[in-house]
Amino acid sequence: MLKYKIITYGCQMNVHQSEKIAGILNNLKFENTFSTENADIIVFNTCCIRDNAEQRAYGNIGALKPLKKQKRNLTVVVCGCMTQQDGAAEKLRAKFPFVNIILGTHNIDKIGDAITQYLQKKRPITLIEDTSRLCEGTPELRSSGTNAWIDIMYGCNNFCTYCIVPYVRGREISRPKNVIISDIKKALEDGFKEITLLGQNVNSYKDSTDNSDFASLLRDIDKISGKFRVRFMTSHPKDYNSEITDIIKNSDKICNNIHLPVQSGSNSVLKAMNRRYTKEKYLQIIDEIRAKIPDCGITSDIMIGFPGETDQDFYDTVDLVKKADFTNAFTFVYSVRQGTPAAKMIQVDPIIKQKRITELVKIQNEISAKQSLKAVGNVYEVLCEDFSEKGENLFCGRTDNGKLVTFEGTRDDIGKFLKIKIDSAHASALFGTKTEEHTDEKR
Ligand code: 5AD
Ligand code: SF4
Repeated sequence: MLKYKIITYGCQMNVHQSEKIAGILNNLKFENTFSTENADIIVFNTCCIRDNAEQRAYGNIGALKPLKKQKRNLTVVVCGCMTQQDGAAEKLRAKFPFVNIILGTHNIDKIGDAITQYLQKKRPITLIEDTSRLCEGTPELRSSGTNAWIDIMYGCNNFCTYCIVPYVRGREISRPKNVIISDIKKALEDGFKEITLLGQNVNSYKDSTDNSDFASLLRDIDKISGKFRVRFMTSHPKDYNSEITDIIKNSDKICNNIHLPVQSGSNSVLKAMNRRYTKEKYLQIIDEIRAKIPDCGITSDIMIGFPGETDQDFYDTVDLVKKADFTNAFTFVYSVRQGTPAAKMIQVDPIIKQKRITELVKIQNEISAKQSLKAVGNVYEVLCEDFSEKGENLFCGRTDNGKLVTFEGTRDDIGKFLKIKIDSAHASALFGTKTEEHTDEKR
C-alpha cells in the first residue's frame, strides 16, 4: 500500500484543504504517514500570502532532492496557492525538475486522478485552471480534533493593495446555504462539537441561489439542534454589521468570539491599503460589540511596515491596539507580493520594520496577559479539545470567547463540555480545574 505525507503551509483554509487532499488519497486506499523517509508520495500544500511561508515551502521542496535521488519512485506533488502565481509553475519546474505534479488551488479535486495517471505513465503533470472553478464534493478526512472546518466561500474581491489572495485564489464564490447546512449536520453526526466557518471575508457571503447573506446563514445554523459551537473567520470591518453582533448575543451556539483584522491604526495607511474603513470606524465597531457582548473575545491581524508607514503611522497603530484591547492578535511584517500594487511603492527599511514589530508584539503580549488575569477566579464552559503538550495528564480546550485553558483531566474528557474554574494565568495562558459549578450563560 502506497504511503503519503502532506506538508501544509499557511492558514486554516489550507489546513482544511489538506483534509480534502487526505480524504481523496485515503479513498484511493493510500495510507497516511508522518515520516518523510517512509512516504511514497509527498504533497506540498503551499501558501503564498506571506513571504516566509513561501520561502519555507521553496526551502523544503529543495531539501527533498537527495531523497528523490535515492528513491526514484517517490512522487512529489506541489499544490496550493503558490502554484497559482504568474510564472510559478515554470519557476518550480526550472528550479526543481524532480517535482512530478503541479496542481492549482482550484484543481485539488483532481489530485487523485493526477497521481494515478502519473504512477502509470511517469510523465510530469501540470494542471492550473482558472480560479473561478468551484471544486465541490471532495471527500474530507477531518483531522482537527473536535473542530470541523466548513468552507462557506472561496476567493476574495477586496484587492487590499498588499494582498495576493484575489490574484491566486480568484473572485469570491459562495457555496449554497443548503449544502453548507448539510455539511454541518454531517459533521455533527460524525461527532464534531465545534464548527468553524471559513471564508476570506465571511461578511460578504451571498448564496447565489436564494440571495441569503451571512446573517441568514448564521440564523439557520443556530436552528440546528444539539449542543455544539460555531466560530467563523475572517470578518472584514468594512462589511461587518450590527446584525451579526445581535445574532451572536442571542445565540447559545455562535461563540462570543470575533476575528476582525484591522491591519493598521493609521488612516493614511488604511487608505493606501484600500481597506475602506477608518481607525475611528473600527473602534466604533469594537465599542458596539463590547457594549452588547461585554465578554466578547476579539482578535485581530495587524501588519507593520506597509510601504510609506511613518513613525506616526506606527504610533497610531499602537494607539489603536491599546484602545481595542484585543484578546490576541496575529502580528505580521509586511512582505512584498509581486503583482500587487504595494510591491511598486517605496518600501520601509527592514531594520525599522524589525524595531516596530518587536515593540508591537511586546505591547500586545502585555494586553493579552492582562486580559487573561481578569479571567482568574471565573468558571467557564470549556470544550476539551486535546491532550496538552504542557505535561502529563494535562488537557486543553477553549472557552466560548476563545481563550485557551489547560487543566488536569482524562482522555474521556476530549470532546466534552466541561466547567473549568480558572486558577492562574501565565502570560496569556490560563490554567484551571474541573468543577461542577454553574457558569454564567454563554461563558
Ligand atoms: N505581508 C504581510 N502580511 C500579509 N497579510 C496579507 N498579505 C500580507 C503581506 N503581503 C496578512 C494580513 C492578513 C493575514 C491573513 O495575512 O494581516 O489579514
Ligand atoms: Fe487579502 Fe484583503 Fe481579501 Fe483579506 S480581504 S484576503 S487581506 S484582499
